[in-house]
Amino acid sequence: MKNILAPSILSADFKILGDQIRQTEEGGARYIHFDVMDGIFVPSISFGMPVLSSIKGMTSQVMDVHLMVTEPVRYVEEFAKCGADIITVHFEACENPAATLDAIHGCGVKAGISIKPGTPVEALEPYLDQADMFLIMSVEPGFGGQAFIPESLERIRQLRVMLEERELEKDIEVDGGIYHSNVAEVLKAGANVIVSGSGVYKGNIRDNTTGFMEILKAYE
Ligand code: DX5
Ligand code: ZN
Repeated sequence: MKNILAPSILSADFKILGDQIRQTEEGGARYIHFDVMDGIFVPSISFGMPVLSSIKGMTSQVMDVHLMVTEPVRYVEEFAKCGADIITVHFEACENPAATLDAIHGCGVKAGISIKPGTPVEALEPYLDQADMFLIMSVEPGFGGQAFIPESLERIRQLRVMLEERELEKDIEVDGGIYHSNVAEVLKAGANVIVSGSGVYKGNIRDNTTGFMEILKAYE
């Protein structure tokens, strides 16, 4: 399976955002991970549609939108219009996750579903056929720069087995606390879409990105 790096712009320097995004693109990152927080599903507030619209035109990277938002179905259409290529919603945030995934597909966009560290992996079972991507949070959603929760590795393995048993070759994305030092473990466990905020945007962005890409390629 192709391994993909999805740098989270939550950790970027917003006064030079365009410049920094370009460095990740030149370094080989195929996605931009876009963390939307509503101050209700998670305690913090980040950014939304206007920021997405303005970066959409500047890069050919895939816009990977992670909605940490209560009842995200309310915003699916608008994020699709603003340029989202993938919209991931939280299982815990949706009254009707299946209808929400349908609404995403109805906008012609790929649909992802995510679980927080405390939610059993089995919660994803009803959506294995329907969703295009599964996002395992390896920190509590809400803030960048937290430490990777080690139990996440077992959760990734469990999900990969569930998909393989059904002969489904789908993307498993992992988000939170991933750096050069631990990304190999995450890939070996069965993930193939790697989100990193601090690991890309803190320090030398180009070197951080190419460093990740070397490891990702080695595990394909
Ligand atoms: C957390 C966000 C993450 C976060 C990852 O709620 O979903 O995408 O930005 O940041 P790092 O890599 O710094 O843990
Ligand atoms: Zn995220």
